[in-house]
Amino acid sequence: FVVKGTAFSSIDSKNVKVFENCLFCISETGMISAIISPEEKDYKTIIQEYSEKNKFQELAQGQYILPGFIDLHIHAPQWAQTGTALDLPLYEWLNTYTFPLEAKFSDEQFAERVYSDLVSQLIKNGTTTALYFATVHRKSSLRLAEICSEKGQRGLVGKVVMDDQEQNPDYYRDATTDEALAETELFIQEVLELNKRTPQGVYPVVTPRFIPSCTDNSLKGLGALAAKYDVHIQSHCSESDWAHSFVQERFGKNDAFALNDFGLLTEKAVMAHCGFLSDEDMDLFAKKGTAVAHCPISNAYFGNAVTPIARLLNDFQVETGLGSDISGGFSPSLFDNIRQAVMSSRMLEDGVDKDCCSEKRGVSGASITLNEAFYLATAGGGESLSLPIGKLEVGYAWDVQLVDSKKLPIFSKDEPLMTIFQKILYLSRPENIDEVWIQGEKVHDKNTKEVEVQA
Ligand code: GUN
Ligand code: FE
Repeated sequence: FVVKGTAFSSIDSKNVKVFENCLFCISETGMISAIISPEEKDYKTIIQEYSEKNKFQELAQGQYILPGFIDLHIHAPQWAQTGTALDLPLYEWLNTYTFPLEAKFSDEQFAERVYSDLVSQLIKNGTTTALYFATVHRKSSLRLAEICSEKGQRGLVGKVVMDDQEQNPDYYRDATTDEALAETELFIQEVLELNKRTPQGVYPVVTPRFIPSCTDNSLKGLGALAAKYDVHIQSHCSESDWAHSFVQERFGKNDAFALNDFGLLTEKAVMAHCGFLSDEDMDLFAKKGTAVAHCPISNAYFGNAVTPIARLLNDFQVETGLGSDISGGFSPSLFDNIRQAVMSSRMLEDGVDKDCCSEKRGVSGASITLNEAFYLATAGGGESLSLPIGKLEVGYAWDVQLVDSKKLPIFSKDEPLMTIFQKILYLSRPENIDEVWIQGEKVHDKNTKEVEVQA
C-alpha cells in the first residue's frame, strides 16, 4: 500500500530530514520499499494506481508521520507501581517495593493483566518496539512475549536472572544457578519458536538483572548462552553510587570491564543507565558495539546524576537510545523522556556566564539538542538493537505514529515544518497520536474502540 504525507526522520544524531508530501510505499512484509517525492515523474501515477486498488491513504490536514519510538529499557512488571514508590534510593527501593511486587508475577493471571495493559498503553504512546525486563519467572515472561506478539508490538523480552542466594531475598530469586541457566535456555528456545509466528518479531534477551544480583557462574553461563544462540543481552551498568561501588569492591573494576569479562558486552548488548562510566569504559563500549539505554527520568531519582550523553554520542560514538525505565521512571511516554533528556543535559552544561562570573559550574558541551533526543528515541534505538527500525528509509520497517498537530498552538499557515516538529515533540500527549503502525499493520486507531484480549 501507499501512504501520502509529511514525515520527520533522523538521518544521523544531529540532523532530521523532512519528507514533505512524500509517498511511502510499503511492501507485503511491512517494509518501506520506496519513498517518492512530488517532483518525481511517477508520483501521480502511483497515487492513481493505488487509489484504484483501494490501497492508498492520504494523511489528514495537520497530521504528520514520525517513526515509532523504541523504548530501550523498561521493566514490564513495574507498570503496576508506576508513579509511586519513588521516595527511596535504589537498594532500598528494590527491597522495599520492587522485589515484593515482582514476586507476584509467579501468578500468571496477574502477569497477564499487568502486561496486557502495559503493551496497549505503550502502543497508544507511540512505542512500537520495547526492550523489556520481565521477572525471574519463565512462564509469565513468556506470556509477555506472547502478548507483544498478539498485540502486534515488536518486543524483546528477558527472563530476569537473580541467582545469588545472599544478595536476593529468598521469596524472589532463582532457586539455583543451574536452574537459572536452564530456565533461561528454555525461555530462549520458546521465544525463538514464537518469533517464527510473529511478523513484527519477538526476541529473547539474556538478562542478568545487574552484577550484584548474580553469581560469577551465572554471569559466565549467561555470556555463553548469548553466544550460543546469538541473542540480545541486557543489564544495568554503573547506575548508582551504591551499585557502582558494589562492583568495584567485588571485582576491583568498573561494571563495564566486569561485564565484558563474562562475555556480556557484545554488539547485541544494551546496558541501562551508565551514569558513571569512565573514559576507558566508554571506549570499551564503542569497541564492542555495546549500546547504552539512557533513562533520563529515572536517573534523576536513582542516579542523582546526569548520564553524560553528549560525551557518549559525540566523543566516543557509543550507540545510544532512550529508555523509560518504568517504574524507576514514572512515564511510559518517550515524548516525556525526550523532553527530560534535553532538560537534564542542560542542567549538566557549563552554567558560567564568562562575562560576569568566574565560578566554574557544570561541563561545557554537555547539552544535547531536541534533534539528538529525538534520534535517541528512534534511530539510535534501532542501531542499538541492530534492527532495521527507527528511521524512514528504504529497507526499514513501517513502524510509525501519525500525530495530529491540530490542537497544538500553531497559528500561522506558513509555520516552518521544523517548528511544527519541535511543537510536536514538546507538546504532544497520547491523545494527539491518531494511529500507530508496526511492520505495516495498524495496531492503534484512536477512533476505534480497542478489542480486549481475553485472559
Ligand atoms: N537495578 C537493578 N534492578 C533495577 C530495577 O529494577 N530498576 C532500576 N532502575 N535499576 C535496577
Ligand atoms: Fe532499570
